[in-house]
Amino acid sequence: MRAMQASCPPEQVPFVMGDLLLQLRNLSKTFRLGVHSVRAVDGVSVDVIRGECLAIVGESGSGKSTVANMILGILPPDPGGEIRFKDEVLPVRRKHGHRRAMQLVQQNPLSSLNPKRSIGASIRLALDAHRIGPRSERPARVRALLEEVGLSAELAPRPPSALSGGQRQRVAIARALACESELVVLDEPTSALDVLVQARVLALLSDLRARRNLTYAFITHDLSVVRNIADRIMVMEKGRIVETEETGSLFRNPRHICTRRLIGAVPVIEPEEIEFRERVRAGWWSEGDEIETERKQSHVEPTQQEPVRNKMSD
Ligand SMILES: Nc1ncnc2c1ncn2[C@@H]1O[C@H](COP(=O)(O)OP(=O)(O)OP(=O)(O)O)[C@@H](O)[C@H]1O
Ligand SMILES: [Mg+2]
Repeated sequence: MRAMQASCPPEQVPFVMGDLLLQLRNLSKTFRLGVHSVRAVDGVSVDVIRGECLAIVGESGSGKSTVANMILGILPPDPGGEIRFKDEVLPVRRKHGHRRAMQLVQQNPLSSLNPKRSIGASIRLALDAHRIGPRSERPARVRALLEEVGLSAELAPRPPSALSGGQRQRVAIARALACESELVVLDEPTSALDVLVQARVLALLSDLRARRNLTYAFITHDLSVVRNIADRIMVMEKGRIVETEETGSLFRNPRHICTRRLIGAVPVIEPEEIEFRERVRAGWWSEGDEIETERKQSHVEPTQQEPVRNKMSD
């Protein structure tokens, strides 16, 4: 699904064509810290179309995760804000069905997966919690979900610590899929992965969206991550939306200085790496290689992994 929208100032909600799944209206969030307060999100309004990938981008501290937490019902918005899901205004205390309908995939699956539980048991727990499918069929569902995210069902008895970072993120995705939710909020889902594993996880997310008609709210500080996956990009700065635009238009004609800064930070990939990525996309890279790459790079700080040159346009 490609979202169609008309350009308009950030304070207005862009008109979008399509079946609306999620509507955020005037969402704000103020954190009180003693006598001080932080306006983390300030009057955010946006529509999300069923089946689209809306990227929410911005520099660190711009309020992206706070928006995600309000969408998911983890944080209540300040009075005056409203979240509609499938035309229903969501209550602050979410009902079971609402919790099932939207799932979160975070940056670090180690913090969201119980280290004492096998990955199969973690996925099974999601099926049990939401009573998905007959009990007798759930073990087979767990295996099928692992395979759907490109993992061997043989991994089910292993703890998260026995998996590579990319594999763990696939488990987190499988657990989100287990709930058969319509909206998946992805909060920096590939930021902790090295660039090759990141490409594979992004390809998986693209496939899953098409296959399951999922809707994504994809949060990142790195525009290059969402360039090929997002239909539209919403740019945030200091809690406010400064620009919402279709992905191609945003890269061709960034209007806000903050968007230009983010585009300026998009890494330019070296030719050898492009060739390498093509091999990955063509499937010449096995799961074992992924673990090997991560082992080799485990001593390298994330910022040192990729040669980066800045460019000002696409
Ligand atoms: N629980 C909290 N209590 C107080 N301040 C908070 C809380 N959560 C977030 N903030 C503040 O709100 C602002 C927005 O934070 P948020 O985590 O939403 O930003 P972000 O865009 O997700 O940043 P990052 O890219 O670093 O994850 C920041 O100034 C942050 O310090
Ligand atoms: Mg965040």
